[in-house]
Amino acid sequence: MKTLEIGAKIQICSQTELTLEQKNVVEAAKKATLTSYSPYSHFQVGAAVLLDNGEIISGSNQENAAYPSGLCAERTTIFYAHAKYPEAKILKLAVAARTNGEITKDICAPCGACRQVICESEYRAGAPIEIMLCSKEETYVINGINALLPFGFNYDNLMGQ
Ligand code: THU
Repeated sequence: MKTLEIGAKIQICSQTELTLEQKNVVEAAKKATLTSYSPYSHFQVGAAVLLDNGEIISGSNQENAAYPSGLCAERTTIFYAHAKYPEAKILKLAVAARTNGEITKDICAPCGACRQVICESEYRAGAPIEIMLCSKEETYVINGINALLPFGFNYDNLMGQ
């Protein structure tokens, strides 16, 4: 029997420890929480991506009276970014959440479906996407989706490679 150990290094940064580029994406995600349409959960999520063309695209969760028809902030943002700039690569992604008017004390981590979508974007980019999960005081900086989705399914798996 062989044992495979999987682990990840996650940097926990204070606001001042972020680079200016990181800060800009984090601030865009926090600001995007204010555009959330979440009359059912009242959980306002914002996401932002930095593209290799220099653009920052942001978005938020969009809920629906038919609950499963709603979409998370991450997927709203990523799909819009890819639809607007099909050739662009996503370099960084930030996610933040707001409840009762305040950015949450805990980080907001992407759901499983969003992780799978980030996995596809990383495949399209051909390089790890820096994922920044924000709380009020700190930002978890994660180098690539593999840390959040080990053994993610991508094009190569589909092709049996
Ligand atoms: N939500 C997101 O937008 N992203 C996450 O990472 C977690 C959950 C949304 C979905 C739903 O609109 C609300 O938060 C409560 O689950």
